[in-house]
Amino acid sequence: MCGIVGYIGQRKAYPILIEGLKRLEYRGYDSAGIALLSKDSFEVYKEAGKVADLEAVIPEKEYLQNVGIAHTRWATHGQPTFKNAHPHYSESKDIVVVHNGIIENFMLLKRRLISQGYQFRSDTDTEVIVNLIESEYKGGDVNFEIAVNKALQQLHGAYAMAVLFKEEPEKLIVARKGSPLAIGIGKEYAEFFIASDAIPIVEYTQDLIYLNDNEVAILERNKRVKVKDIYGKPKRYKVKHIELDNNMITKGEYEHFMLKEIFEQPNTLSNTIFSHLSEKEDTIYFEGLGDLKEQLNNANRILIIACGTSWHSGLIGEYLIEELARVPVEVEYASEFRYRNPIVKKNDIVLAISQSGETADTLAAMRYSKEQGATTFAICNVYGSSMAREADFVAYTYAGVEIGVASTKAFTAQVAILSLLAISMGEKNKILDTKIAQSLIKELREVPKLVAKTLEKDSTIAKLAKDFLKTTSFLYLGRGVNFPLALEGALKLKEISYIHAEGYPAAEMKHGPIAMIDETLPTLIIGTNEAYYEKVVSNAQEVKARKGTIISVVNEDDKQLANMSDYVIRVPKVADVLQPIVVAIPLHLFSYHVAVMKGCNVDQPRNLAKSVTVE
Ligand code: F6R
Repeated sequence: MCGIVGYIGQRKAYPILIEGLKRLEYRGYDSAGIALLSKDSFEVYKEAGKVADLEAVIPEKEYLQNVGIAHTRWATHGQPTFKNAHPHYSESKDIVVVHNGIIENFMLLKRRLISQGYQFRSDTDTEVIVNLIESEYKGGDVNFEIAVNKALQQLHGAYAMAVLFKEEPEKLIVARKGSPLAIGIGKEYAEFFIASDAIPIVEYTQDLIYLNDNEVAILERNKRVKVKDIYGKPKRYKVKHIELDNNMITKGEYEHFMLKEIFEQPNTLSNTIFSHLSEKEDTIYFEGLGDLKEQLNNANRILIIACGTSWHSGLIGEYLIEELARVPVEVEYASEFRYRNPIVKKNDIVLAISQSGETADTLAAMRYSKEQGATTFAICNVYGSSMAREADFVAYTYAGVEIGVASTKAFTAQVAILSLLAISMGEKNKILDTKIAQSLIKELREVPKLVAKTLEKDSTIAKLAKDFLKTTSFLYLGRGVNFPLALEGALKLKEISYIHAEGYPAAEMKHGPIAMIDETLPTLIIGTNEAYYEKVVSNAQEVKARKGTIISVVNEDDKQLANMSDYVIRVPKVADVLQPIVVAIPLHLFSYHVAVMKGCNVDQPRNLAKSVTVE
């Protein structure tokens, strides 16, 4: 949600910033802006719309400034207009700031600043920050650094920010609370790169510092980084070496990141599955989980908290863990959990699932659970993310960088981890016979190949998608472990093609949604699970009897359901509990093709942003 980038060094800042914004655009694309600073000039450009719109309004000239900050916005306070675009100036136009997050007490601070004579040009909470810094600087006989600290001490809410001051062009100050911020260190501290994540930085340096909450860093060329708390007390920091292959952050031969990420899954799944399996015997291990394994098996219950697509993988986790290990699981939307005074006990294990590891609601719910004494466990995709750092235990999905706003490969990697976890728990507490556990592991080893085979259906799915471009509403049905997939398929269609879709447990259809079925409402039915097959066929009959169109996702050898369907997508057969990984592929591809054919921007769907760092 909003991306910030900054640079201070000897290079020209402009190309670094504009390229950085392009790489961070997945975090928000409502408006963009850049501030460039040198001893003799201070220039700010901004524009409503995407980074390309900003580039189009920036005059063609050589930008010589070696310092700058930039921002790509996902609107929270104020519409996505020019006046609300960052960077925001202070009243005197001497200080400029870019900010990701939300300042909750901004109205109070704004009123106070207005009473001091400050005028506001935007509707944003960010303009309050920059004027507050200025008011502290002017009124308090303090230097720039202390003025920033004094302002930060008054802010409630979340921020990752970068601040520049015209009178001190040798200094870039950054601060973090709640929203992520990484600092890249150039050779011998000669230059610094800052960004909301490592993606815009790794091309220049792989040595990074991740700021913690309530920390401020002062970046000056050829000087070691100074990290302090907001009261000025020096803090220790660690420099981490991060390796990110450039292929991971570019589209390569693909038209969209989403398609590239869908096609990466044979690899991402191999990476995720095989990094938790011993090479010779089929033993599942989770490095660093140590004690947690015992705790998981003896847990009173496991509480899974997540949002969106990660919540769907949590629901799949519930089916898997209860089925294979018989440990009680509850799954909650993190946003509801954190505000409904939930009962969390010391012997609960709270499992937070998140691609980004930064989703504000999931992070807050995890922190709350920790305060209640529960053991926290995170399944995350982003190394060094807040959840990964703060959880008692962490298991990484090795899906690689996910840039498409709609989550695809991170979802299947999460489900793969949950499958491994459920099998290993079941084996350990002797619910699962060793032979069955071994055969499931064997099948799981094959899943990346089955996914590759399923991807061969891409052109069939694209052809099928063509017939649904005018459809306004869809129903997705599944049973058992494939019910959460029905939710996932519907969510994906909604978010990238803007077609209304609802996911339902197939049997629930007759308790309401069946009333909607007619020739105009297609139903996608997942009919791969052996355990529920006959029941799903009956549900399909109910749809057919009401003249509904059926698209079915079935096993390769299916006859009955396929014969009743208007459209059929066949997938390779795999054990019921492992199906969600394989079945996710046609669902994601279907949404992708419908959206692309409708002319929608699948990588940057309207109103959305990846990594929702606000509530
Ligand atoms: C949907 C999607 C979102 C995210 C949700 C949680 O395709 O990507 O629903 O799943 O915002 O994000 P993470 O997993 O980063 O916590």
